Amino acid sequence: MKEKIEILINEIDSISIHSNDELDSFRIKYLSKKGILNNLFEDFKKVGKDQKKETGLLINQLKTRVEEIVITNQEALRKNSNKKTIAIKNSSLTGEKIEIGARHPLMSTQNRIIEILKKIGYVFTSGPEIEDDWHNFSGLNFPKNHPARDMQDTFFISENIALRTHTSSVQVRLMESQKLPIRAIMPGRVYRNEAISARSHCFFNQIEGIYIDKNISFSDLKQTLYFFVKELFGKDFNIRFRPSYFPFTEPSAEMDISCIICKGKGCNICKYTGWVEILGCGMIDPSVLKLNNIDNKTYTGFAFGMGIERITMLLYDIKDLRIFSNNDARFLKQLI
Ligand code: DAH
Repeated sequence: MKEKIEILINEIDSISIHSNDELDSFRIKYLSKKGILNNLFEDFKKVGKDQKKETGLLINQLKTRVEEIVITNQEALRKNSNKKTIAIKNSSLTGEKIEIGARHPLMSTQNRIIEILKKIGYVFTSGPEIEDDWHNFSGLNFPKNHPARDMQDTFFISENIALRTHTSSVQVRLMESQKLPIRAIMPGRVYRNEAISARSHCFFNQIEGIYIDKNISFSDLKQTLYFFVKELFGKDFNIRFRPSYFPFTEPSAEMDISCIICKGKGCNICKYTGWVEILGCGMIDPSVLKLNNIDNKTYTGFAFGMGIERITMLLYDIKDLRIFSNNDARFLKQLI
């Protein structure tokens, strides 16, 4: 009998179980009423006294091993139950190709912009996409019922709450929460109730910059932006500032670069003007500083804001901004 048990112990150690059915057969074979172990216990009764101790130990060893095999295989099968089992017939075949995701082109551009501005001391921060009237409008000097609010068609959630129409709202959040000086960039998604076309969308991404300190002047703003666009687009283009209007900056300007697609000759990207608008900027209106409890006799500052889609379109010569949100992998893969 001892020999028989030893053979069984060796046998089960080389057993391999691949499915719940195989595990069930194993369990029935060894542990059921009429299974091997019960039969051995029956035979054990007939074993002579001198052999009892050793045979008993061997039967127990076999039983423990059988139970271990059941538990470990149960566990392994449970873990694998969600995984697709692939039967590999030829182990020299190459494995299945794993698709690797990539950063969205808009996020690559955003990261590039952040990296450039970080070099000159700007700190990354962000704010909420659902905003109240104060942060999106009133705190930025957009009086109630002022036509300037119509510059940005707003998606309202309630009378006082809306999807932010620009990242300038984060300026207000920083002014109310940060110690001076403030030098920060704040990227994020913004929303406007606009018809969707090749050139406009109801959601898009902006990045905002703000610098408030003592003695900040318009020439600091210009030098910052010169540095920024040259780092971003290279050196082979011209830059111009045009006077503009934003309720929260005075003076306000828009910055154009000569079209890097047609080199200023005229194309549909620059609408045959040779120039493309890159961003809005200006000196923060002293009344905005005052509204946000900043001493506007001691402190001055500038701000700028740009659309990430527009910059990405220029960098990669993309003509239709709808392609950014179509999720077409063929497009996304081209820009990795
Ligand atoms: N918030 C403006 C817009 O969405 C862009 C802008 C203009 C941001 C001038 C600024 C700025 O910070 O100074 O049209």
